Amino acid sequence: MTYEERLQNVTIIGAAGKMGSGIVLLTAVEMANVSLMPENRDKKYTLNALDLSEDALKGLVGYLTKQITKISEKKIDNIRGFYPDMNNDQEISAQYVKDVLAVVNPVTSMDAANDSTMIFEAASENPDLKVKLFTQIDEANGKKPWYFTNTSSIPIHILNNRANLKGRIVGFHFYNPPAVQKLVELIGCDETLPELMEFANTYAKKLRKVVVPSNDIAAFVGNGHFLRDLLHAAGEVDMLSKDMTKAEAIFLMNTISQKYLIRPMGIFQLVDYVGGDVCQYILKVMSEHISGEKLNSELLDAFIDAGIKGGQNADGSQKDGILKYEKGRPVAIYDIDKKEYTDIAMIKGKCEDMLGAIPEAMPRWKDVIADANKQELLAKHFETIAKLDSAGATLAIKYGKRCKEIGLNLVSNGVANSKQDVNTVMQTGFFHVYGPINDFFG
Ligand SMILES: NC(=O)c1ccc[n+]([C@@H]2O[C@H](COP(=O)([O-])OP(=O)(O)OC[C@H]3O[C@@H](n4cnc5c(N)ncnc54)[C@H](O)[C@@H]3O)[C@@H](O)[C@H]2O)c1
Repeated sequence: MTYEERLQNVTIIGAAGKMGSGIVLLTAVEMANVSLMPENRDKKYTLNALDLSEDALKGLVGYLTKQITKISEKKIDNIRGFYPDMNNDQEISAQYVKDVLAVVNPVTSMDAANDSTMIFEAASENPDLKVKLFTQIDEANGKKPWYFTNTSSIPIHILNNRANLKGRIVGFHFYNPPAVQKLVELIGCDETLPELMEFANTYAKKLRKVVVPSNDIAAFVGNGHFLRDLLHAAGEVDMLSKDMTKAEAIFLMNTISQKYLIRPMGIFQLVDYVGGDVCQYILKVMSEHISGEKLNSELLDAFIDAGIKGGQNADGSQKDGILKYEKGRPVAIYDIDKKEYTDIAMIKGKCEDMLGAIPEAMPRWKDVIADANKQELLAKHFETIAKLDSAGATLAIKYGKRCKEIGLNLVSNGVANSKQDVNTVMQTGFFHVYGPINDFFG
């Protein structure tokens, strides 16, 4: 079966979810582009967008219409070629939106998947649910479809074995939001069919993604780094909170990770963005499958027990979590001991005094990421930090060294194939301006 034949009938499960909706958008556009080639005009292309409720699917269609309209306007130069008999850009754009939407078939019944040759699963992160879905489809679908899973943490061989797929499965880990984030981690298990791997690579490239292979170890490269990074910060909070409140200690580590290490957001803000419960769940999966390492955080568990989870509202805005947000900016920190938010304005002065002198004109992430000389800027920044005799500098250097160690361990433990892959994942998937495996921290 060719690439184009494989794409003729696709089902995406969890289509109305955070990840599923973006995956539907990207795949529908790719399928429509294939269907609009002269040689495919007589063939039918169907993308079953499968989710639990009609209402959620209505929301999906609204999202798709808006996004495809934007794409049709932005890519008008590429799209004109599909419509040689039309010469009005507005009409071409409107026709393209119609043609992409015509590919999408919103459905709530699993029966729709019975004719699909490609199943993309982006349902909730629950191995039992994923196995149940694969098993049910595989029993009813006689075409031996290929399965793609967006799991963030579950080893692919577990899903393969439990659903008895005999290698017809691959991990295809988009980052959030899939339509914007460039990275895809591609994870095969020992049995994954080579031709499925090849198809997955082609599909990712057609979607203009940067593909980094990860080996089949729980949480893979990106989350393998992120969660261990969080555990480092949480451990530092435990130590620091012997001499200060937990809210103050969290403020310090959030500041160190964002400002001193020059990241787009601090580590606890990132936990809120991903969702504390999601982080806790990924750590649980890692603990089940990785031995010899403490992979849980009492601090994170305490937040979840107190109902402090973060995550995002349906409109994409940030929910309060470890930090409280006003217009997207952190304004308070939840003090887990007092069970209330402490205003950052109340503790900022004391915490900054404690961190000590900061380098003059500390470069900010948004300036560095856009600077062609970022390597020089970064080298200068970390040299300055190394010369400072302050608590802030000490915490930052220790943090940077730990991140490097985490990165190197991902390579030596066989999760990542190379140091470059670790760096690419952290730079592309997490928008870090430099990879964790660098020379800045010795
Ligand atoms: N959110 C992220 O940042 C992120 C990033 C990368 C990967 N992932 C992974 O992507 C997957 C989806 O995560 P999400 O954040 O989009 O979750 P989500 O809760 O936003 O979406 C899940 C969707 O699956 C649907 N669903 C649940 N059971 C179903 C069933 N039986 N049949 C059909 N639909 C069903 C739900 O209705 C929901 O719309 C998970 O495996 C997650 O680990 C998430």
